[in-house]
Amino acid sequence: MLDRLSHVSIVVPDLEAAAERLAHAYGMVAGEILVNHEQGVRITYVTLANAKIELMQPLAMETPLGRFLQRNPGGGLHHISFAVDSVAEVSATLENSGVKTIGSATAKNVHGEPITFIHPKEFLGVLVELEEKPSDLPHDPN
Ligand code: CO
Repeated sequence: MLDRLSHVSIVVPDLEAAAERLAHAYGMVAGEILVNHEQGVRITYVTLANAKIELMQPLAMETPLGRFLQRNPGGGLHHISFAVDSVAEVSATLENSGVKTIGSATAKNVHGEPITFIHPKEFLGVLVELEEKPSDLPHDPN
């Protein structure tokens, strides 16, 4: 069910500096910077052969991501994300096995795809995002 890793997400204090660091030290080139006002975040992605690295910079400190940055001023690993065919179906299946997903039923990522989250205490201490990316559609690298 959760067999497609979409991305690993890192919160950073300075998106441009983070992208520059990855490019300079590792030759990892980030794409354009996207803004998700609903989630209060600027985002860019490094596309790898089998998954992506998501870099996120909160737009304000009084948001969940801003509070994460207050606790981790240098940034850090925030969540891992799996691609699923249907967020609603996977959420229902998980709920049947006692795992509640968290977040609004209408939440969408910066690409307009439905998303939900699994609380870290339900996944070995790591926040997990589920992103709706049907596997039978042509793969969108973002
Ligand atoms: Co994500």
